[in-house]
This record gives sequence, structure tokens and C-alpha cells, in this order.
Amino acid sequence: MSTQPSPSDLDPDRLKTYSLRLFGYMNGATISMMVCLGDRLGLYAALAGAGALSSQELARATGLDERWVREWLYSQGASGLLETRDGERFALSPEGQAVLVDENHPANGIGMFSQIPDLARALDRLPDAFRTGLGLAYDEHGADCARGIERGLAPWFRSIFVPFALPKLEGVCDALRAGAQVADVGCGAGVALLEMAKAFPASHFHGYDISLHALARAEANRSAAGVSNVTFHDARVEPLPGDHRFDFITTFDCLHDMTDPEGMIRQIRAALAESGTWLVADIKARPTYAENVEKNPMAGMMYGVSVMVCMSSSLSTKGGAGLGTLGLTAERLERWARGAGFTRFSPIDLGHAVNAFYVVQA
Ligand SMILES: C[S@@+](CC[C@H](N)C(=O)[O-])C[C@H]1O[C@@H](n2cnc3c(N)ncnc32)[C@H](O)[C@@H]1O
Repeated sequence: MSTQPSPSDLDPDRLKTYSLRLFGYMNGATISMMVCLGDRLGLYAALAGAGALSSQELARATGLDERWVREWLYSQGASGLLETRDGERFALSPEGQAVLVDENHPANGIGMFSQIPDLARALDRLPDAFRTGLGLAYDEHGADCARGIERGLAPWFRSIFVPFALPKLEGVCDALRAGAQVADVGCGAGVALLEMAKAFPASHFHGYDISLHALARAEANRSAAGVSNVTFHDARVEPLPGDHRFDFITTFDCLHDMTDPEGMIRQIRAALAESGTWLVADIKARPTYAENVEKNPMAGMMYGVSVMVCMSSSLSTKGGAGLGTLGLTAERLERWARGAGFTRFSPIDLGHAVNAFYVVQA
């Protein structure tokens, strides 16, 4: 039987520290929702490069009601996301503009905040998942969430991947220039693939995903890019072919989400040419919970995202692997890759804050 501590048992300093910690998270959650609103309503976009604006000026620029804009500005100023000048004028710093507005900047993070409403909606369904053990597949979070994931991950692909990361992979750019067959597995909205397709018109690029929302975004992005060397496939209908046809395969942030990542690694081995290269990107994960907590200041958030999205997706069918956001360690990936018949496995630093990268070959 549990016993309730009596008020006199509690250390007042520790009580205060604990409460402050807890309400710090409430503060973060509330301000995150205000960030989401600022993005949706175009408030940050209107502030970008506009200098210090009053609530009247910002309301006029966005066509919104001044009283609501003023309260939002107060929240943003008080939380340090906007600079307060001359009493009640507010400005977005150049750094704020990079992180909140410029979606081509590698530090941009607004896409992550745009997923908050969809993640909050999942709260209604997660108690069932805790009881049944079965999680939500990606598409169950809705089309907006697929768009949010796209926006969250695209800045690195747009600004770093092709110009700075790909050239670090031996022989890959030469093969792409000459004309290669490429697959991106778990391609989401296809941003990585389209960036490569634009840069290497002699190659053909195939994206595989099981999310119909993501594939719809990928098709829309393909039309907007105007490229003809990209094909997207619903992997449930057209799985990766097992005839060693691909010279280069990529997987970005998706193996840990899969119900059968080990099976997918075997499929990738069967799809990759003997001389081919597989580039894996997955969240930097350490072998134990303790090491994740020690080395990763965002571990608490990542375990939470895991419950809501990543582990949930990986447990969305019975018997799913359930790796979780921090579950694909280098050791596990290497063991599975070697078990699938790959013999070369090398970590490579591609300058990413969250992801680890590996070059895997036959
Ligand atoms: C976090 S998203 C990453 C999307 C994309 N790689 C990016 O970086 O923008 C993970 C993706 O993996 C996809 N996925 C999960 N299981 C899959 C499977 N078995 N085969 C193909 N894609 C899968 C999901 O639908 C989702 O689009």
C-alpha cells in the first residue's frame, strides 16, 4: 500500500525546485503553442526584416485583430522569442528569423512546432495504445502531421545534404553524375530525393514510403520541382525490388519507425548492387537509457516523441520491433547490417546535430 507523505515530511526547497521544474514544462508547452500560432497566422513572417513593430502595425500587416495580436506579442516578448524595444514594440532578431521563418536555413525548427496540434490529438488515442500494445501508424496522425514532419526535416536536406554531405561519400557524386539508380526508403515527402534529382539529372530516383499522406506531398513536391527523373512508390503495393538494381540507397530518420527494421535491412541488401552504397541516417542513440540521458539534453523530449510517434509507429502492427526514437544504436544497426550480408560499416560525420550517419556496403 502506498503512503502519502504528510506536508511536514517535505523539504520546502526541494518542493519548490520540483514545482519550478514541472511548471517550466508547462511554460514550454504553452509557449510552443504560441509559436505554432505565430507560424500559422503569418506573424513571424510579417515580423521578419520589419524592424520593431507595435501591435497596431503587426495587426495591420497581417489583417488580424489588434487586441489578440497584442496579447500574443506580450507572450513572445516575455518568453524572449521576440526582442522588446521602446516599451511595447517587438522585433524578430536575425537569429529568430533563421530558426522560425527561413525554411532554407539549416537551423530552422518551425516545422517541429507545426506538428504540435496533431501530436496533441494523438493523446486521445494513446491510452488505448498503452492498454493494447498497438500504436498509431504515421498516417493516423493526419495529413497536417505529414506536412509538419516534412517541414521539420527539409531544412537540412535543402541547405546541407547535396552541397556538403553527399560529396563526403566516396564515389557517390561521380556515380550520380554519370547516371545511377537511386532509392530513398521511408522517403516521406521526398525532399531529399528531389534535391538529389535536381542536382543529378542523369540519374533516376525512386522514393518508397507507406504513408499515403507523405506520398501525396511527395507527388505535389515533384510537380512543383518540375523534374522527370523521380518516381514515388507505395511500398505496401510495390516493395523494394530484390534484384540488386540500385547503386545508391538512402534511409533518413525512418528505420527506427519501422515495424520490421531488420527485415527492411535485408530488403535493402537485396535491392543494392554489389558495388553500391547505403547511407543510413538515424537519431544519435546510445546503448543505455543512462547514456542517452547523460549525453542528450533533449532525451526527455525524444522519449516523449517516441511514445507519440516513433515507437508508436514501430508498434503499429502486432509483433512490431518498437525500437523507439533512441532505439537504433550503432551497435544494433551494425549487427543487423552484417546479419543481412553487408561487410563494410563505417560511421561518418556529416555535421548533423541530431542524426548519426553510416556508410554501409556489401
Ligand atoms: C520521420 S519520417 C522521415 C521521412 C523522410 N525520410 C524525411 O527525412 O523527411 C519516417 C518515414 O518512414 C516511413 N515508414 C515507416 N515504416 C516504413 C516502411 N516499412 N517502409 C517505408 N517507409 C516507412 C513513414 O511513413 C514516414 O514517412
